[in-house]
Amino acid sequence: ARLVVLVSGAGSNLLALLEACEEPSYGAQVVAVLADRACAGFDHAARAGVPAQVVAPGDFPDRPHWDQALVRAVTAWEPDLVVCAGFMRLLGPGFLERLPGRVVNTHPSLLPDFPGAHAVRDTLAAGADRSGATLFWVDEGVDTGEHIAQVEVEVLPGDTEATLTQRIKAAETPQLVAQVGRLAREMVRGEGLQGAGAGADP
Ligand code: GRF
Repeated sequence: ARLVVLVSGAGSNLLALLEACEEPSYGAQVVAVLADRACAGFDHAARAGVPAQVVAPGDFPDRPHWDQALVRAVTAWEPDLVVCAGFMRLLGPGFLERLPGRVVNTHPSLLPDFPGAHAVRDTLAAGADRSGATLFWVDEGVDTGEHIAQVEVEVLPGDTEATLTQRIKAAETPQLVAQVGRLAREMVRGEGLQGAGAGADP
C-alpha cells in the first residue's frame, strides 16, 4: 500500500513508519512526505530518500487555495492511505472529499477527551490521571473522527508537558506503526478498510 505522510514537527512518528516500511512484510511504503512548513520531519524524509515537499499556507492567497494545492500534491502520489503524523493543520472539506476514508491522524490524548492542539497541556491542567493516544479516521471536525485504536498511559505526579509527551509517544508510535501496517495489509489483500468513511456512501 502507498502511504503519504503529512508532518509539521519533530517527525518521530514518521521516522518509525519509515523504519517499519523497510521490512517488506510490513506491506506499505512511504511514497511521499508533505509538510506545511520546514520541519525536522521534512528533513527525515529527505534523508531517507523519500520525496518531500512543503506546501505552506502562507504561499497561497487563502485557505481554500492552500487546501486545493495540498490535495493536488497528495493525490499526485496516488496514496492508499494518508497518515497525519503530527500535522498541525485542519484539512479542509475539499481534501477529505477527494480522499474519503483514507486519512488517519494520531492524537496525544484519549479522545474524545482533550481534542485540539494542546492536548497534553490540557490533560495536565485538568488534573487527569490517565492519558494516551488515539488513532482515528479524519473527518471535518477537530479530532472528532471514528476511532481506530487507543492506547492508555498513566499521568504521574510531577509530570511536565515534556515528560508526559514522551510517555505518550512511547505508546503512540508503536500503535501507529501497528495499525497503519494492518490497514495497509488489509488494502493489499483487498479486504477494504474497516472504519468510518471507508466505502462510505458516494
Ligand atoms: C504526536 O504526539 C501526535 O500525536 C501529535 O503530534 C505529535 C507528533 O510527533 N499530533 P512527531 O512529529 O511525530 O514527533
